[in-house]
Amino acid sequence: MRKIIFASNNKHKAEEIRAVLGAQFDIITLKEAGIEIDIPEPHETLAENAREKSMVIHRLTGMDCFSEDTGLEVDALNGAPGVRSARYAGEQATADDNLKKLLVEMKGIEKRSARFRTVISLILNGQEHMFEGDCEGNITDNASGTAGFGYDPVFMPEQYDKTFAELGIEVKSAVSHRKKAIEKMTAFLGARENK
Ligand code: IMP
Repeated sequence: MRKIIFASNNKHKAEEIRAVLGAQFDIITLKEAGIEIDIPEPHETLAENAREKSMVIHRLTGMDCFSEDTGLEVDALNGAPGVRSARYAGEQATADDNLKKLLVEMKGIEKRSARFRTVISLILNGQEHMFEGDCEGNITDNASGTAGFGYDPVFMPEQYDKTFAELGIEVKSAVSHRKKAIEKMTAFLGARENK
């Protein structure tokens, strides 16, 4: 089984990625690889932030690795919080702070369309490959549900009338931005292995 380091400390993301990948690949988080590092996300695009994380870990370990950066783009807010999703309510903001700020900004706004966008940077044999996935939906008026993380309690994916946090990991793993990006990466890796 191919071992790949996932350049992240986010256990929710790792859980979602494993749910999509099944037994095909052995994903090792930074913690599991014994690497303690907090990699900054200083750039203006998801792609640059994802690249920063994968390059840092590749330089450190010399191993194949991938990272991802995700943002929530709300149309009525001109794409905000976007690449600043983790720091929307301030540099030290918690997920709860960010979500509350979003609900305040969206109060009284009728147009609630939004999407999550994930960009993956994979470093394979020293070369970078990028994959992207998105998931369209709407921002709810109030937070509901306890599954998932981040903005999941206020994001209702298209074709559902519940939030990701109410729908749970099974549905999220079937329709999410992350799932779509991961599937593109695994198709690419599978094609390389069958050559
Ligand atoms: P990052 O990709 O770890 O930088 O995440 C950016 C921000 O978006 C953080 O506040 C995360 O909690 C949030 N976020 C990332 N992915 C998801 C998701 O799948 N659902 C809900 N929130 C997310």
